Amino acid sequence: MRIECGLCAIRDWQTSDEAALIAVANNRNVWRNLHHRFPHPYTQADAEFWFSLLAAMPEPTHWAIEVDGIAIGGVGVDLGEGIFAKSAQFGYWLGEQYWGRGIMTAAVRAASEYALNRFGLVRLEAPVFAWNAASMRVLEKAGFEREGLLRKSVLKDCQLIDQVLYALVR
Ligand SMILES: CC(C)(COP(=O)(O)OP(=O)(O)OC[C@H]1O[C@@H](n2cnc3c(N)ncnc32)[C@H](O)[C@@H]1OP(=O)(O)O)[C@@H](O)C(=O)NCCC(=O)NCCS
Repeated sequence: MRIECGLCAIRDWQTSDEAALIAVANNRNVWRNLHHRFPHPYTQADAEFWFSLLAAMPEPTHWAIEVDGIAIGGVGVDLGEGIFAKSAQFGYWLGEQYWGRGIMTAAVRAASEYALNRFGLVRLEAPVFAWNAASMRVLEKAGFEREGLLRKSVLKDCQLIDQVLYALVR
């Protein structure tokens, strides 16, 4: 898949993205805002594991964000199962040198629309660490609404923190 979003494109990850992926993913300020599945330091073995996970999927649900032909971040969904079949967890990240240019707002708008349509979903959930105001702003600009506060739900970087739950519901 490939979607042009103006400031960036969203497309399938390719194994040839490995060096670019490691260059942007191996960053503590990125890691600090993400789920524990995203490692730090981010090594070649981690990139290979990521590509093997995507290859094992019937259809990838995580995509690269591309600027000037280079993968600079990622966006994707984890599809719900059983009673959660119409929902998905929505996540995203960008290499630090690309922050503050509106890239993620464009990517979130396009990827959320694509995921809802492609997988027949009605709800995308995005829990955000309470210290991550920029991410909340991105979600708000992309039409997600704040639904609540998940108090002390995460232990990250040795701190017990709240998450702010955002969702886009169709
Ligand atoms: C959060 C992240 C995705 C934002 O991407 P980005 O491309 O810089 O976002 P955009 O430029 O599209 O928009 C950022 C918005 O946040 C605002 N912002 C930035 N820092 C802020 C802060 N400390 N407080 C409040 N708003 C802030 C910007 O002003 C902008 O809003 P505006 O357009 O109204 O001025 C990026 O910083 C990132 O990848 N961080 C690490 C991983 C991560 O946090 N992933 C999300 C997990 S929920």
